[in-house]
Amino acid sequence: MESQTSLTSWFQSLCSSFFFLMIIFSISIIIILSFFFYMIIRQRLCCNCEICHAYITTSWLAQFENLCDWYTHLLRESPTRTIHIHVVGNIVTANSDNVEYMLKTRFENFPKGKPFSAILGDFLGKGIFNVDGDLWRFQRKMASLELGRTAIRSYAFEVVHFEIETRLVKLLSTAADGEDGLLDLQDVFRRFSFDSICRFSFGLDPKCLEFPLSLSEFAMAFDLASKLSAQRAMRASPMVWKIKRFLNLGSEKKLRESIKLINVLAQEVIKERRKMGFSNQKDLLSRFMGTINDEKYLRDIIISFVLAGRDTVASALTSLFWLLAKHPEVEKAILQEADRVSGPDQEPQSSEQLTELHYLQAAVYESMRLYPPIQFDSKFCSQDDVLPDGSFVKKGTRVTYHPYAMGRMEEIWGQDCLEFKPERWLKADGVFFNENPFKYPVFQAGLRVCLGKEMALVELKIVALSLLRRFHIELAAPYKHRSPIFSPGLSATFHGGLPVLVKRKKSYLCK
Ligand code: HEM
Repeated sequence: MESQTSLTSWFQSLCSSFFFLMIIFSISIIIILSFFFYMIIRQRLCCNCEICHAYITTSWLAQFENLCDWYTHLLRESPTRTIHIHVVGNIVTANSDNVEYMLKTRFENFPKGKPFSAILGDFLGKGIFNVDGDLWRFQRKMASLELGRTAIRSYAFEVVHFEIETRLVKLLSTAADGEDGLLDLQDVFRRFSFDSICRFSFGLDPKCLEFPLSLSEFAMAFDLASKLSAQRAMRASPMVWKIKRFLNLGSEKKLRESIKLINVLAQEVIKERRKMGFSNQKDLLSRFMGTINDEKYLRDIIISFVLAGRDTVASALTSLFWLLAKHPEVEKAILQEADRVSGPDQEPQSSEQLTELHYLQAAVYESMRLYPPIQFDSKFCSQDDVLPDGSFVKKGTRVTYHPYAMGRMEEIWGQDCLEFKPERWLKADGVFFNENPFKYPVFQAGLRVCLGKEMALVELKIVALSLLRRFHIELAAPYKHRSPIFSPGLSATFHGGLPVLVKRKKSYLCK
């Protein structure tokens, strides 16, 4: 009896201490969260300058549809072409001297920084896109060496050519022969660029563009991981996603699951490649396997390439075709040049042949001037610094250069800077000339310039030629009579896709 009483009282005291602990725990959580939200609100509301006020209240939306258009307006008005968004600690610049200073002169003082690598860290690991310092230098050297080889360049051409001839053209032909000829060209280009970059990077063919259209598990996991990682950057404070990650909740739970799936698939590919032997394989992974043994590191390097080369190319193709549909005179000039250089209706047989198409190159550059796939890119200042325009940059501040706004600066491109004019890239003899890369940092510039630039240009040019020769592509709603609205993300994406109507051209009816 006595022992029963003592057991009951022990149980009661356990319950009361448990409830006591629960109350203490809940109060602590409430205090921590309140403090945390107070800090966010304080940080966000502590500046009342005109720009910060418009930023906080989103009053800019009354005049502009895209954040990049509002920034462009502010940067065009600023005498130094630099603005400060104090509430988010961001200095945004469209001043090419500042861009050169950050990306070349004081490169070491403007790394990607920890805030950026934390956002993409779970997805990209220690891959080139996400690291600074020695880790970056090592991968950069190795990748530059590999990508400079003729064999890998011709492999890139082979991959893209295959994807166009066996899938892209087939898909558009099927649409053209269908009842309405309607197609979301942005979705098609996303599938195209994913297939191409996966085959190029690790010899895996996800067949996203194969008819009937479906998405492989890998493509879906990759899509989700990029989307959810990009969403982290949009949170009011990194603490929000860090707490969710710690508790494995909501979007962070989904992100963890998609990364797990990507890792399993990547490991399978690497193991398989090791078994089969990689020395006579042409993809990038096989080439890196000659130098690196660590499977996780190999996975990270390759995933960075897939991320870097997928959405950027799809975005560039989408805006190029949107602009071409609005400028039939440019389409005509591209085709006339191709007929003159390669012969009527002849497909280019190598990437070298493409270099002779100066007008096509000019059209591609001009389209990315107005619609760069990466509209802005940020670095984090390591030590206090002063930009060439006199802006003081405190240690830890985010500094963003803005290719979208820079493509709309009169002092760089002249009064007609808002017009689509490929001719501005041609000398009097019709030969293409490159602008100073710090005035056109579409592929970034300086020491960390894009490693896939040449491959991207090849992709854009062959897709343009192959489709323009065979099909009439007409814009459908919503972008028939209006300019693009972009969805938030790492690269520029047309909100709602790019619906078009596809018809076969007469000369290609029988093919
Ligand atoms: C039109 C297409 C493309 C555009 C506009 C573009 C643009 C850029 C930009 C702006 C960066 C700098 C990003 C940053 O540091 O935050 C970059 C880096 C990079 N790009 Fe591209 N890119 C394109 C296509 C590609 C392709 C097809 C590949 C792969 C074959 C690729 C591979 C890379 C890599 C590996 C880096 C990291 C370089 C480094 O950090 O040293 N890119 N690209």
